[in-house]
Amino acid sequence: MKLIVAVARNWAIGNNGGLLFDLPDDMAFFKDTTLNKVVVMGKNTLLSFPGGKPLKNRTNIVLTTNKDFSEEGCIICHSYDELFEELKKYNSDDVFLVGGGKIYNELYEYCSEAYITKVDSIAEADTYLHNFDGDSNWYLSYASEVHENNGLKFTFNTYKNNAVK
Ligand SMILES: NC(=O)c1ccc[n+]([C@@H]2O[C@H](COP(=O)([O-])OP(=O)(O)OC[C@H]3O[C@@H](n4cnc5c(N)ncnc54)[C@H](OP(=O)(O)O)[C@@H]3O)[C@@H](O)[C@H]2O)c1
Repeated sequence: MKLIVAVARNWAIGNNGGLLFDLPDDMAFFKDTTLNKVVVMGKNTLLSFPGGKPLKNRTNIVLTTNKDFSEEGCIICHSYDELFEELKKYNSDDVFLVGGGKIYNELYEYCSEAYITKVDSIAEADTYLHNFDGDSNWYLSYASEVHENNGLKFTFNTYKNNAVK
């Protein structure tokens, strides 16, 4: 399993149920990377998508403890045990953790790689990601040149996990 996320300088990732930045090139990277793959998300992240609808042309797996929750086009899992059972059906390289804060921070240790878009900015936030730079189990294996959208500078980075759970 892999993780894909965009973070501010202080590892902030969300505010009021939404994203912090509007970065078309990062959206394009996210789409290219996850298209025709499996995306795993918490229910809040599903609800943050337009109309609360799943991502097109991807297998969408949504975590919720609510047994009554359903959404067309989504596979629902009610626990991490159920999730890990479901994930046995897929090649782990094709599975992407796409948020949000709770799911990333509880499952990142199970990921072999993290695609982290680092935005050189600080924004008001209520949701944060684990600091991968301060974690000796993870190392930076790739950092792109600086990109810029809407006046915001950012880089695409790949971190690898030495101690996958
Ligand atoms: N920057 C980025 O790249 C990025 C990417 C994605 C999301 N985000 C942001 O992250 C924020 C949302 O994150 P969040 O932490 O609030 O929510 P989240 O991780 O998307 O979803 C949390 C929900 O998932 C369900 N859940 C969590 N653990 C579970 C488990 N073990 N078993 C079953 N269900 C489980 C629960 O739903 P129930 O309450 O229904 O049980 C829980 O309330 C938003 O601001 C969003 O925009 C940012």
